[in-house]
Amino acid sequence: MTDGNGRKIEYLRVSVTDKCNFRCRYCMPKEGIRHLQHQDVLSFEEIRRLAEIMKDMGVRKIRLTGGEPLVRKGVVSLVSMLPGAVYMTTNGCMLPEYAGALKEAGLCGVNISLDTLDRNTFCKLTGRDELDLVLRGINAAREAGLPVKLNCVPIKGINEGEIEALCDFAARMQLDIRFIELMPIGCMHDLTGIPSDEIIKKLGTDSLEPIEDADTLAGPAQYFKMRGFATRIGFISPMSHRFCNVCNRIRLTADGYLKTCLQYATGADLRALLRGGADDKAIWDAIESAVRNKPSAHTFGSCDGSDIRRMVQIGG
Ligand code: GTP
Ligand code: 5AD
Ligand code: SF4
Repeated sequence: MTDGNGRKIEYLRVSVTDKCNFRCRYCMPKEGIRHLQHQDVLSFEEIRRLAEIMKDMGVRKIRLTGGEPLVRKGVVSLVSMLPGAVYMTTNGCMLPEYAGALKEAGLCGVNISLDTLDRNTFCKLTGRDELDLVLRGINAAREAGLPVKLNCVPIKGINEGEIEALCDFAARMQLDIRFIELMPIGCMHDLTGIPSDEIIKKLGTDSLEPIEDADTLAGPAQYFKMRGFATRIGFISPMSHRFCNVCNRIRLTADGYLKTCLQYATGADLRALLRGGADDKAIWDAIESAVRNKPSAHTFGSCDGSDIRRMVQIGG
């Protein structure tokens, strides 16, 4: 499937719940959010049906997100119900319990948020004293044989002094780590992100060697190799280096809305179609038409008209 700007759409992000057991300050507003009612959330069968239709339309990779996807009961069984390569992005704290089962269900890999290695900073940022559990989760995923990448959102005055330590940790664990520029989606007016170029400068350009990502279905990260280490450091820079021209993705929210861009509300209410008795052809047409109208790029920071959904409701 190709959008109105000729971009091939092959990657679907599915938010399976808007609930999260953390309250990360960059993702969740202070006052919390009003959660969806049980009946408003797509069932696994409904998600499977949409995923099958989208597979026939060309989607080859699915990433399960949340909220926190592992708080959705039974999500392990959803992994084995979906077509194509299925991945997950998680805060990691439930991986000690679920990593083995996820691997067995066929999960291809996990991205785990790790913004700090300091217990106090972790509490301040997430509202939970569970750094140890997350570190155990990272280990559990590795031991289960799941490929793991770490995600860190650098924020001024919070974790900016830990960039090198996080890179060392990732290298020691033999894991890739990506630094993500903070995006202004709803709730983080009191936080200031750090542009990727600043971090690259801090790490020293001499120590970083740019590399191409061989994975054609990879997300928007630009990767480097740290000299002397086998693992990669990635930068996801939506603010300073917009990558929308190569965007290959669409998103499905927990209540069945097809979002064609992270920033905008543009898309289609697929739940209404599913529950209104639409046949596969009608759903296919609705997806095709929404994708044709996918916004050409985000305008973070300079334009209104953004979706009112918060990051925790979109899943990144
Ligand atoms: P892989 O390359 O498959 O590992 O995926 P990914 O890096 O896109 O997945 P992940 O869920 O780990 O997302 C990492 C960060 O990238 C999150 O902060 C996302 O919000 C951000 N991100 C992912 N996709 C997009 C996108 O299309 N646009 C923008 N602006 N940011 C994105
Ligand atoms: N800006 C950038 N990244 C964010 N994430 C959550 N909120 C934001 C934001 N406002 C990241 C999380 C997680 C991924 C799904 O999205 O760190 O790794
Ligand atoms: Fe794609 Fe929108 Fe993300 Fe840009 S902001 S990369 S168009 S989803």
